[in-house]
Amino acid sequence: MDIDHTNVSGTHGENKSRRLATALTTFSIAAVQLASVWALGITEVDAQTQASATAPVPARPILIQFSHVVAVDTAKGRAALKFKELAEARTGGQVRVEVYPNSQLYKDREELDALSLGAVQMLAPALSKFGGDFEALDLPFLFTSHAQYRRVVDGPIGARMLQNLESRGFRGLAFWDNGFKVFTANRPLQSVQDFKGLRIRVQASKTLVTQMKQLGSEPSVSSLSNVHEALRSGKLDGQENTPINIASQHLHDVQTHLTVSNHGYLAYAVVVNKYFWDKLPADIRTTLEGAMRDATAYENSLAEADNIRALKQIEATGKLNVYVPDSRVLAQWRQALVPVYQTSEAWIDPALISDIEAVNQAPP
Ligand code: LMR
Repeated sequence: MDIDHTNVSGTHGENKSRRLATALTTFSIAAVQLASVWALGITEVDAQTQASATAPVPARPILIQFSHVVAVDTAKGRAALKFKELAEARTGGQVRVEVYPNSQLYKDREELDALSLGAVQMLAPALSKFGGDFEALDLPFLFTSHAQYRRVVDGPIGARMLQNLESRGFRGLAFWDNGFKVFTANRPLQSVQDFKGLRIRVQASKTLVTQMKQLGSEPSVSSLSNVHEALRSGKLDGQENTPINIASQHLHDVQTHLTVSNHGYLAYAVVVNKYFWDKLPADIRTTLEGAMRDATAYENSLAEADNIRALKQIEATGKLNVYVPDSRVLAQWRQALVPVYQTSEAWIDPALISDIEAVNQAPP
């Protein structure tokens, strides 16, 4: 169990021993996989480049391992499979994509280490997990609609954020949508006072940790795959996530109350190992970029409707009370969370926050 009651000054809320264990585990898995995966990927690509005129379908295809932490039946899960289908078909089998859902290969922050080491080639982590300026998009009540969020990531701000990943050895290919987060807990969460003293799970983002502290609760950073058991056993009192993640992880089975707060946004960046990507033959890379464009359009067309459907399904189970705050209550929440913006300027460039707000306020 990697529950970590953290504070803002912690390194993304992970304690040292867990980080060390994670790094060692990742490194040893990576060491074994590097030999096979990169041999299968990079050196084979070089061989293919030379032999492409005579051998259009190599005996051993280029392997892309795509790891993610959510269920298959989510927008991200289905789009990962769509990318596999398109990539394999359009390269005539020269590329094979293996999709590993549900933290089968790596849990939350482990997966970024695995990508750095080349133990996997493709991920789609939540933006919160990249840290730094990406955490600007975690600011509470930053967006009031999907369209606002899309204008930010589809414009120069989004392009700059993906560009900044290059220095970390990643290439950002696309933004994939999920949607607005809601809170669940084992008691009603109606006024901001209701959060006092509750242990609430958040992703590894200083902005999210600050948000929960501002509400007087005790933030706990942990991997998604551990949340159900932590809620069930009472180690955690509540959590925030999108309806589709709550439903597909069955979190509503172990909570008594849900508040449709829509207080924050959850979205993803699809990233690849830059070294792997740059070594691909140009024609293969172009084909894969096209497959990613179409998989992205597919993902972004699913997310909003999936969340509406998931919330209805959760309500229909009758297992928990669903509370929809009115605009007066939400204004109080928004007001209570304003200080998070100032505190977050310690790790988010204030100019970025102003730029996002300017896009939000511009006419559509
Ligand atoms: C979470 O950890 O709650 C999310 O990042 C999971 C996901 O990938 O949607």
